[in-house]
Amino acid sequence: MYVIVGVTGGIAAYKTVQLVRLLVLGGHEVHVIPTDDAVRFVGIPTWEAISRHPVTTSVHDDVAKVRHVALGQAADLVIVAPATANFLAKMAAGLADDLLGTSLLATTAPVVVAPAMHTEMWRHPATIHNVEVLRSRGVHVIGPEDGPLTGGDIGPGRMTEPDRIHAFATGLLAHRDDLAGVRVLVTAGGTREPIDPVRYIGNRSSGRQGVAVALAAADRGAHVTLVVAHAEADVLVSARSHPRIDVTHAVTAFELAAEVADRAETADIVVMAAAVADYRVAEASERKLAKDETGGELTLKLVETDDILAALVGRRRPGQMIVGFAAETETDAAALLARAIRKRRRKGVDLLAVNEVGWQKGFETPDNTLTLIGSDDEVIATAGGTKREVADALWDAVLAQR
Ligand code: CTP
Repeated sequence: MYVIVGVTGGIAAYKTVQLVRLLVLGGHEVHVIPTDDAVRFVGIPTWEAISRHPVTTSVHDDVAKVRHVALGQAADLVIVAPATANFLAKMAAGLADDLLGTSLLATTAPVVVAPAMHTEMWRHPATIHNVEVLRSRGVHVIGPEDGPLTGGDIGPGRMTEPDRIHAFATGLLAHRDDLAGVRVLVTAGGTREPIDPVRYIGNRSSGRQGVAVALAAADRGAHVTLVVAHAEADVLVSARSHPRIDVTHAVTAFELAAEVADRAETADIVVMAAAVADYRVAEASERKLAKDETGGELTLKLVETDDILAALVGRRRPGQMIVGFAAETETDAAALLARAIRKRRRKGVDLLAVNEVGWQKGFETPDNTLTLIGSDDEVIATAGGTKREVADALWDAVLAQR
């Protein structure tokens, strides 16, 4: 494949040499386009030797070959690593005052950026906005990671390690269209069951894993309907603007069931990643409960919600594939597996994705680990990494099982 690696002016540029090497060793044709600032960190001879192609920063070299757009037009994939705060701002604004800028405007290939900067810059509202703009255009943002930074400070800002960028990028290339035309229904987030008009019973799901599953499917060519219960604010930005994802919302388990029921009829694959409440308050109060009325003690009667997944399995169309999720707190590996296998059978799903959770595990983190159990009760795969990486592993397993 024809891969452009853009390099911008951050110290992490030295790590990008390894990324280019991994891509070249993988048999890809790699063209490096550094910015002028980047070559103050790593010089052009290094990029030329490692990529085995001529390298320039300028739109004024090789003009006869219309190089300022030719590279971008030919690319199957563009990676910008490291992407500085300044360069993210330029990309968001569509500026094209150098070869990397023009190449990015000329390409229709997937674009991956690996930001690297100090924590204050990453958290600045301007950078947050620029990253949102890029995500809304379908740009894949990988990292930055949390850890020690060059100045000795610690926090989010480290560029993701080259081997992980490489795995993500080659994954994108490998799976580009393997779900083309497939209709997928994904649920995500946590339902909220009202106690009264201002209080609810909820759970800690951020929606990240389910939304990552939807994005991975859409990036691989699927048409995705995403039904979201409560999700954290930033989680839906990329999904909302993805051309192949329709987002709808549901608050309670009852609403989620209703949204899913119609849409499942036309879906080829359903993934129930939402954390659905098992119980709801039998009679939610129409007025806010007040302490002087409850008398020092409050008893809520909870009743079971309908099992949406079980209903889906009961109405499954021939050829339709149904994937369930299970969050478990069991820490003994053998007991966890036995429990998961029982759950897969009980639910009757084709694939059960099991994640081990705890107060500090699985929630509010970018990473996750999933064990995937197939219809013959075998562990098909164990996937660890970012929620997006895990989502891609889930789709690999779904396709293998299909
Ligand atoms: N699920 C559902 N409807 C519910 C509850 C759960 O569709 N009312 C789905 C979830 O979206 C998930 C799967 O069922 O895909 C497993 O959820 P989980 O809560 O682990 O299963 P339970 O049957 O509630 O099992 P447990 O006894 O462990 O709570």
